[in-house]
Amino acid sequence: MNKLNKLIIASLAGFCFILFIVGCKKSQSPDEQVAGLTPYVLQIPNGLPPMDIPASNPMTEEGVALGKQLFFDPILSGDNTMSCASCHKQSFSFSDSSVQFSTGIDKLIGTRNAMPLVNLGYQKQFFWDGGAADLESQVIGPIQNPVEMHEDLNNVLAELNAHPTYPALFKRVFGGDKIGTAMIMKAIAQFERTLISGNSKYDQVKAGTASFTPQELRGLSWYTDMKKGDCAHCHVIGSTFSDFEYRNTGLDSIPVDIGRGRITLNPTDDGKFKTPSLRNIALTGPYMHDGRFKTLEECIQHYNIGFKYTANLDPNLDNIKKGRLNPADVQDIIAFLNTLTDTEFITNPKFKK
Ligand code: HEC
Ligand code: HEC
Repeated sequence: MNKLNKLIIASLAGFCFILFIVGCKKSQSPDEQVAGLTPYVLQIPNGLPPMDIPASNPMTEEGVALGKQLFFDPILSGDNTMSCASCHKQSFSFSDSSVQFSTGIDKLIGTRNAMPLVNLGYQKQFFWDGGAADLESQVIGPIQNPVEMHEDLNNVLAELNAHPTYPALFKRVFGGDKIGTAMIMKAIAQFERTLISGNSKYDQVKAGTASFTPQELRGLSWYTDMKKGDCAHCHVIGSTFSDFEYRNTGLDSIPVDIGRGRITLNPTDDGKFKTPSLRNIALTGPYMHDGRFKTLEECIQHYNIGFKYTANLDPNLDNIKKGRLNPADVQDIIAFLNTLTDTEFITNPKFKK
């Protein structure tokens, strides 16, 4: 074999080896074991679809446990008094009790109602305006926000790196010698993906182990009837109870908070907010992005008679008749919404500190 042939064979072999490595990397699925760690097996209830886990953040038992510890740890806040769980409480489907706006560490009050944390792994964008493009990057928002945990990321990292137990825990899960911001984001996102709710009465009826009362059944029919409730157009019936699209529901003639428009800078998005899931909705009041409605009845009356004919109003509302629901219909819809409460979710010891 001459020198040139040898060179060609050697470089071909090298090329194949690179292809092999790239191929391996590509085929690595999130369920594959991260060296030495136990893969976390998500328990998806019957009524929900499989969840896409990003290949860059495979879930492990150790990662989820670390994320949970961080979620409950006030070390992430400026004066070490407030954790994620201070505003996201399990008994309220991980929203903030009955307050309209949460109070941050500096006693400053925000302008948006704390969102429930439920079935987050099915969503693509986070916050009322979808300002966070994935669950990982959502995590640093509340830590830095002056009206929330008001902490400097460098401080958090310094505190965690000097902590008696965190460095070893992080090293075990993510490797490396220093705790970095990306690791905090990944660990908390792993825990957040485990917050799955799919065992409400609605799910049990679907599975054939419970049945609706006549009133709940009427409520369901108004919910889907396009001339009555017409809720299902946006809060899609079944699994996640939302398509998570941004819409203007006519809360104000001129929106105080422009919502989605703040992110896209497109005036046709002004006054649009992410359509929220209605799972556990009976537990998460007050309602809407600014918590303006105390009760579900007020929410339904908004869609029935209250909404304003404003620029960008969703066409589904623009086209529907006001006053189409009588008081009994409203109560029926509330009865149906109550079947979306999942007591197993709000008492599950896996989600407790
Ligand atoms: C001071 C109260 C407060 C604290 C502390 C807090 N949050 Fe929130 N959370 C909120 C509010 C308010 C919103 C809605 C913000 C918005 O839309 O602008 C929110 C929204 C979210 C969302 C978006 C949910 C969705 O459906 O889009 C996630 C996820 C979240 N928070 C997780 C966390 C995590 C993780 C922490 C801790 C690192 C945390 N929060 C700390 C109040 C708080
Ligand atoms: C055009 C789409 C659309 C229709 C139709 C619709 N909703 Fe909504 N819903 C939304 C959006 C978007 C929001 C968030 C609005 C905001 O905060 O500005 C919302 C918010 C809510 C909330 C408050 C959720 C929370 O977490 O605070 C409830 C409750 C609700 N809707 C119930 C209903 C019911 C019941 C119906 C039928 C009578 C209905 N919706 C019809 C899009 C819709």
